Amino acid sequence: MRVLGIETSCDETGAAVYDSQRGLLARALHSQVAMHSEYGGVVPELASRDHIRRVVPLTEQVVAEAGMAIRDIDGIAYTQGPGLAGALLVGASVATALGFALGKPVLGVHHLEGHLLSPLLGDPKPAFPFVALLVSGGHSQLFAVAGVGDSTLLGDTLDDAAGEAFDKTAKLLELPYPGGPALARLAQSGRRGAVALPRPMKDSGDLDMSFSGLKTAVATLARREPLIAQRKADIAREFEDAVVDELVAKSLAALEQTGMQRLVVAGRVGANRRLRDTLAAAARGRSAEVFYPDLKFCTDNGAMIALVGALRLRPSTVCDYAFTVHPRWDLASLDAPAPRTIELTTQHEQSGVSCAPTSE
Ligand code: KG4
Ligand code: ZN
Repeated sequence: MRVLGIETSCDETGAAVYDSQRGLLARALHSQVAMHSEYGGVVPELASRDHIRRVVPLTEQVVAEAGMAIRDIDGIAYTQGPGLAGALLVGASVATALGFALGKPVLGVHHLEGHLLSPLLGDPKPAFPFVALLVSGGHSQLFAVAGVGDSTLLGDTLDDAAGEAFDKTAKLLELPYPGGPALARLAQSGRRGAVALPRPMKDSGDLDMSFSGLKTAVATLARREPLIAQRKADIAREFEDAVVDELVAKSLAALEQTGMQRLVVAGRVGANRRLRDTLAAAARGRSAEVFYPDLKFCTDNGAMIALVGALRLRPSTVCDYAFTVHPRWDLASLDAPAPRTIELTTQHEQSGVSCAPTSE
């Protein structure tokens, strides 16, 4: 199946075409980072408006780059949630309208399932089952992934997500938005152990994590002495080491607890070089394999959504072209893909298009 994937959940517009047989045929991405940087964070209304500007040209671009005409697409997948309601609605409405016009099935995809399965876009691909560490601006979670739609949550953050902690700490250190990459760059010139930060959850005995205490400890350090360049770098280094220590300890404990041998790291914090190197070294020591999505698939992107669409859609999938978005959406509520049997041929006439964001 050749599936068009559309991602508009936050501050990146992504489009891609994935073929079940030939793999990824084309992808395109527009990042809004420059637009939002002026405000120090994502402005939802601006995000939605920019998605509206970008989504159709990017779609046309990937279909052309895949050497296809739009009618050759067998199905369309879009990010249905979680994310910003207005931003999600852009992708949902464009994907559904296109599917309706072409008479092709349309599927709403869970953004985090996209991240969890994005290493399947790479080579070598991890085989199921695997432990997945999902670390992004909104999530720090460990899952046991037995198959598509079969994930069990093993551990979660009790407060901030790792990416959120990077961003808030970067702000305390007066670094530009987005904070994560800027802090990681500064940490390269920091000295290991020059200042001390706590690792509160490292030995908590479960797979949960916590990062907000770290941010508070950084605020205390930042107040104690003037933030000259070397001190800033030392704090950045120690902060990064503390986050990495916690993520590595919990990931290894998850492998231990599940008896699994494969670890997949997904989400944009997975782009962090120190996290990658430390996990690789730790995994080597216990003959486990670590899989990362290619850096271009660590960011939000259309390819992971097209991939999930190709795994879940069937040529026989029948679609009613009604849609809704889920700004909050529990991954555990997803089912494994099954041949769809719902008889919904002309239901769009009866049900209308329900696009009100849900509040679950
Ligand atoms: O996956 P993503 O786009 O977030 C959500 O979908 O929620 O990840 C964005 C987060 C931001 O918090 C950003 O600061 C962080 O990932 N990030 C990093 C790095 N690159 C991005 N954090 C640490 N090190 C990096 N190199
Ligand atoms: Zn994401």
